[in-house]
Amino acid sequence: GTTYLSDYRPYPFTLDRVALTFRLAPKATRVMAKLHLSPREAGAALHLDGEQLKLISIAIDGQALKPADYLLSDTGLTVHPAALPEGEFTLETEVEIAPEDNTALEGLYMSNGMYCTQNEAEGFRKITFYPDRPDVMARFHVRIEGDKPVLLSNGNPVGQGEGWAEWDDPWPKPCYLFALVAGDLVATHGTFTTMSGRKVDLNVWVRPGDEDRTDYALGAIQRSMKWDEEAFGREYDLDLFNLVAVGDFNMGAMENKGLNIFNSKLVLASPETATDFDYERIEGVIGHEYFHNWTGDRITCRDWFQLCLKEGLTVFRDQSFTSDMRLGPVKRIEDVIALRTRQFREDAGPLAHPPRPDHYREINNFYTTTVYEKGAEVVRMLKTLLGDAGFRAAMDLYFARHDGQACTIEDWIKVFEDASGRDLSQFKRWYTDAGTPHLKVSERFDGGTYTLSFRQSTRPTPGQDTKPPRLIPIAVGLLGPNGDELVPTQVLEMTEAEQSFRFEGLGAKPVPSILRGFSAPVVLERETSAEERAFLLAHDSDAFNRWEAGSALARDTLIAMTEGRDAGSDYLDAIGMLIGDESLDPAFRALLLRLPFEDEIAQTIATRGGVADPDAIHAARETLARDLAARHEAALSATYEACAVAGPYAPDAEPAGRRALRLVCLKLLALVDAGARAEALYTAADNMTESLGALSVLIGLGKAEGKLAAFRAKWQDNPLVIDKWFTTQIALCPPEEAAERAATLAADPLFNWKNPNRFRALMGGLSANHAGFHRKDGAGYRFYADWLIRLDPLNPQTAARLSTAFETWARYDAGRKEKIRAELSRIAGQPGLSRDLSEMTARLLG
Ligand code: ARG
Ligand code: ZN
Repeated sequence: GTTYLSDYRPYPFTLDRVALTFRLAPKATRVMAKLHLSPREAGAALHLDGEQLKLISIAIDGQALKPADYLLSDTGLTVHPAALPEGEFTLETEVEIAPEDNTALEGLYMSNGMYCTQNEAEGFRKITFYPDRPDVMARFHVRIEGDKPVLLSNGNPVGQGEGWAEWDDPWPKPCYLFALVAGDLVATHGTFTTMSGRKVDLNVWVRPGDEDRTDYALGAIQRSMKWDEEAFGREYDLDLFNLVAVGDFNMGAMENKGLNIFNSKLVLASPETATDFDYERIEGVIGHEYFHNWTGDRITCRDWFQLCLKEGLTVFRDQSFTSDMRLGPVKRIEDVIALRTRQFREDAGPLAHPPRPDHYREINNFYTTTVYEKGAEVVRMLKTLLGDAGFRAAMDLYFARHDGQACTIEDWIKVFEDASGRDLSQFKRWYTDAGTPHLKVSERFDGGTYTLSFRQSTRPTPGQDTKPPRLIPIAVGLLGPNGDELVPTQVLEMTEAEQSFRFEGLGAKPVPSILRGFSAPVVLERETSAEERAFLLAHDSDAFNRWEAGSALARDTLIAMTEGRDAGSDYLDAIGMLIGDESLDPAFRALLLRLPFEDEIAQTIATRGGVADPDAIHAARETLARDLAARHEAALSATYEACAVAGPYAPDAEPAGRRALRLVCLKLLALVDAGARAEALYTAADNMTESLGALSVLIGLGKAEGKLAAFRAKWQDNPLVIDKWFTTQIALCPPEEAAERAATLAADPLFNWKNPNRFRALMGGLSANHAGFHRKDGAGYRFYADWLIRLDPLNPQTAARLSTAFETWARYDAGRKEKIRAELSRIAGQPGLSRDLSEMTARLLG
């Protein structure tokens, strides 16, 4: 069935306290639950969610229920109103579950002999009978019995002995934030003293043998705690903060109260095994989960339609954190690249949905880039509209007003209205309307008055045919003929479908810098000359728009090449001067020199009404890279040398930026030196960033076979590094080889496909090889679909998530379209297909 936002009803009982006892055993764990309930309305039946549970006993106030007192179904248990006492009562159940057989990795499951949980969104119903909905918040007391040395749950430890431990969490929480971990684990310990003087014990728990890769994670927790105090005035609220790394995990990480559980790839790092990119992500995700303590745990969501209330806001917070820890403008550009390549792509296809959807079949399918990253952009726009101080005041009000509550987007908007005195009803459309607005710009200069005119429009998305205009904050600055800033940044607030803004008293026609900092998640359409782009690339004071000018030049050049038009040399001319420009951050230059991804180019071509040809796009990108290398070999080579980082590896932004630029140069230089520098770097490198960077270059040249074999042998016992081995070779190999190579890799004994990281490493690598995945004969599609079909019965969530690789089918020619649709239909026709994957295929097929 489908769940609708409009069907929301409050739960008819309050649940203030829960006591859980776990008697752990791989095949037969017993869960005893004691729920203290009181009715909020007379005569209501008591419904508890529960799936795949074997009911052993059920009693109310100590009296066993008779079979006629309740109804058991596949999805839960309902106690008849007549069997319930008038006032408050205690419900006790005992169930049996089998964590070892739980391959879906949702609820209580086992990973390498360790027990762990993942309950968001609706996993708790696989642990015990319970009102599994976020608006039911209770205090939890937990007893764990089991033969594991470390037994963890949320909150504070209140007792332990041989084979047991008890935990008490003073903060009321919904059950999706419950966690349990039991295993043979070792901790790296640290402390943090909060601003009011609370001393917090910090532990990073990992499997024995991994403890030499935990320092960075521990430091990241400390930095997160400090930053949330400074940036938002938020203090940690327990004496203990535990973080556990797990090898089998469907997603990135989970913010369980006081016991965050992480995919090990977002915890473990050492210079030899993790790249600069890994370090940055680890810090960002550790921040993300920690920041959820206030935006998620203390203030949670009323129902799952409100998911972006916590996720959009928390992504915004983690982005701000990384921006402060590293280079702000570079982080902003990286975030916009990710938004456009993932979220704009989602918005443009059959899976488009608003940040706050209003119906779903399977909520796990809505942990999307629209909810997360677009949700973060919406928060960013609020900050732009209110200004820094106004935003902080609104956030303070949000925490003060809603602490301890389960809230909605309406509550959130109301806070911003009350704090600012503004009417934000039009702004709210960003939450309820799907699709990326397009903003068409025209300009006029006339007697000292410069007029910018905008027209906004949003294409229909599934279920939403018409799109009323939104409030769009457009940050604009005007540049004079010498590149000086004539009019500094101001935020224009567009509210109409068409609207003009005038700037008076200008001596000459200015050059506009529009949408500075990417002030709104829109597609800007502007007829502009390559000259003007080159001008902005050289002079704009706004780093984002400076980069944007260069990337637009590259994009237009590539598109012209795919269409066989004369592309000119504007891009190559303009970029040349910047390669060695020491006044620019190396990380920024690395971004400037990075050619747009093939998928991005395909997206742009389709958005402009064309048909994307993956082979032509691949060829154009190769050619442009070759031209760039040939034309600027000297500057690239000098920059490559100049960016060498001396001394021991450090994952900080500064050396990481130099390595990034160095590797971009290396990749281009390989097209003129046949990989000589890459060979040398691979041999000399003492860190994974450079080894993998050099190896990647050699893979692209088809010169890596021997090294790949040696790399595999060297790292075969390190799963995270082996994941990289899978991904890199499949993502970067020549496209015509991708499908065969994928098949070979799938037959490798190291392809442990039941592990989500390993499965994603191969499949994600294949879909990242744009021309390889979209090979004309459909071999890429077939291989991919075969594996989704195979994974679905075991792990529907991961299978459904990966099916989004097919969301772009409408961009391509009839032959490819038909082949993708045929694969989707084949998947849809599988008997016993999961609800997750069947919802996805239905939506993908439209
Ligand atoms: N709340 C977690 C986070 O963003 C992610 C949970 C994902 N759950 C899911 N069913 N996909 O930090
Ligand atoms: Zn989150």
